[in-house]
Amino acid sequence: MTADLIGRLRQVVGPHGVIGDRDGMAGYLTDWRNAYRGTAAAVVRPGDTDEVARVVALCHGAGVAVVPQGGNTGLCGGAVPDSSGRQVVLSLTRLRRIRDLDLANQTITVEAGTVLRTVQEAAAAAGQLFPLSLGAEGSCTIGGNLATNAGGTAVLRYGTMRDLTLGLEVVLPDGRIWHGLRGLRKDNTGYDLKQLFIGAEGTLGVITAAVLKLFPAVRSRATAWLALPSPQAAVDLIGVLRDLAGDRLTGFEVMSRQSVEFVLRHATGARDPFDERHPWYALVELCDSLPLAGLDAVLESALGEAFERDLVVDAVVAASPAQATALWALREGISEAQNHEGPSLKHDVTVPVSRIAAFVAGTDRALSEALPGIRIVTYGHVGDGNLHYNLSKPVGGDDAEFRVRAADLARVIYDSTYGFGGSISAEHGIGQSKRESLADYKDSLDLQLMRGLKQVFDPHGLMNPGKILPG
Ligand code: FAD
Ligand code: MLT
Ligand code: ZN
Repeated sequence: MTADLIGRLRQVVGPHGVIGDRDGMAGYLTDWRNAYRGTAAAVVRPGDTDEVARVVALCHGAGVAVVPQGGNTGLCGGAVPDSSGRQVVLSLTRLRRIRDLDLANQTITVEAGTVLRTVQEAAAAAGQLFPLSLGAEGSCTIGGNLATNAGGTAVLRYGTMRDLTLGLEVVLPDGRIWHGLRGLRKDNTGYDLKQLFIGAEGTLGVITAAVLKLFPAVRSRATAWLALPSPQAAVDLIGVLRDLAGDRLTGFEVMSRQSVEFVLRHATGARDPFDERHPWYALVELCDSLPLAGLDAVLESALGEAFERDLVVDAVVAASPAQATALWALREGISEAQNHEGPSLKHDVTVPVSRIAAFVAGTDRALSEALPGIRIVTYGHVGDGNLHYNLSKPVGGDDAEFRVRAADLARVIYDSTYGFGGSISAEHGIGQSKRESLADYKDSLDLQLMRGLKQVFDPHGLMNPGKILPG
């Protein structure tokens, strides 16, 4: 890249909006886990949509590839540039205005670099709920959430980012601005273009703003931590809860003993709610927008039935919001805790909820045969069929030797997932980590159509190249 382009980028975003020195760029060139590293010609930090459009147009004119980046909490290397040193990282974190809050329309319009927690807090301050919730919510941005179609812990009731979005503003790979920032719940005027950008991981354009749905605030909540005998008990328990609580069932997370053990070992202040060890745990949350919804009674009667049917062997119901927070910390701490045990090989697969028990049994067996002693860290959003099948090396094992096995262990999990009619990514996306696997598990016609779309939006391949589509 010529000094000339850098100079022109500086003219658009100001001298402090372009970072070109190695130390300044370091944090933008690797991901949260330090699992992926790249280099870049520069990191550019525009301050508004117009600046984004001008930066992208300049890069397009110079034939320079752009890598959009939000909070950089992604787990598959999608926001990390390649090692050529020729790409520009486009950080959206200065686009963080809340443009509009329309209570009558139940929508909030926010810029892409706004941190998810800021959006949740702005909604709460207006007596509303923005329901997307995930462990990285203090750092991840709305643009990254949209680009990965983020899921999290409330999908069961509110859906993924696709379901929560009404409109988008997007800078296309050639620098034109697509104005799709409408707040309509119904719009049947042809193809729903915004859905193409959601989940595209920045390969079709740069999202600069979004109109998001709001919901009535939660006014009553009941949370319980349960000990379960098996994954099948978890699946049956969802049925009991759904029968008795209906759509007030908001969260249903399941964790293996291995997952919880890592949190108990590494997270400050974490303690086991039970005296005895159990093979599986569930975290259940019921929510209602009415203040006196009698949720505790609903939860108690569901638990009563669950105990009778041997689906639950022990239970702790949170007696205060602080206790509920402590129970959630046991669940949300898994990702961080696993990092203390050496490399964590992450897989975020999904199968139909009805097939989860057989899937877990078959996959665990195959993994243990592939690498005796492997520690399987299975947990996740079982209410919507999404399991995180994360792996840690055997006790005393070598990090490098374990990393070498990454591809063949992933294949064991993906083959099993495919066999059970599932998908190899439920929420984190493809990025660079699953790019080559996609060729094996996605139908060839799907891939052909996806390549066709890429060609329409980005014929020169300058928007986040090397991500999603297999080489
Ligand atoms: P980044 O990591 O910066 O980018 C992610 C992808 O989006 C990249 O491909 C990037 O190029 C693209 N991108 C970013 N901004 C834009 C934009 N404005 N326009 C176009 N493309 C863009 N994810 C879940 O879905 N559910 C979970 O429960 C969950 N839990 C997590 C827990 C922890 C502890 C951590 C570290 C991560 C978790 N994640 C989870 C993954 C991650 O937080 C999400 O993928 C999140 O949506 C990424 O947002 P970000 O702003 O950090 O995006
Ligand atoms: C989570 O739900 O905790 C994350 O999506 C999974 C992970 O960090 O592997
Ligand atoms: Zn998750």
